[in-house]
Amino acid sequence: MLNEQVRKLLNEQVTREFYSAYLYLDFADYYADAGLDGFAHWYEVQAQEERDHAMMMRRYLLDNGEKVVFGQIDAPDKQYADNAAPLQAGLAHERLVTGWINDIYAAAFAAKDFKTMQFLDWFVKEQGEEEKNAEDLIKKMQLFGQDPKSLYLLDKDLAARVYTPSANAPAM
Ligand code: FEO
Repeated sequence: MLNEQVRKLLNEQVTREFYSAYLYLDFADYYADAGLDGFAHWYEVQAQEERDHAMMMRRYLLDNGEKVVFGQIDAPDKQYADNAAPLQAGLAHERLVTGWINDIYAAAFAAKDFKTMQFLDWFVKEQGEEEKNAEDLIKKMQLFGQDPKSLYLLDKDLAARVYTPSANAPAM
């Protein structure tokens, strides 16, 4: 059994990770519509990773004898002003997720729940990587996004992303 607050926050995070997958599929659809299939593919892979995050947290709750309570998943906002807008929204979202992960970590620390802190260590590292990825995409778009030929090559580059489940990630 887990501490009540830790259990509650982990359950909320399951829903939020599924929302992240929704959001990134929404980005993918925006880019597919804009003819940028590489960007679309990159976000489809990202959506798969987000689903994995939800599944890891679900598994952790189950493995600790806790009930999983799915919350309602909000619809993503489809209004993006230009090709850079989803990238900016992605960085803002990842920063928000980092804050939520930190909140769960803080609750686990307060409850002396060292097992959950250890479980969350992977997510803390993952958030650092995801924020960096989001920042890198914004930089690349700033550098190459205005010139159609460069944008075409950047799109090709992003199309090469391969979904690979992280070897040392928590079980799903
Ligand atoms: Fe699951 Fe991108 O945070």
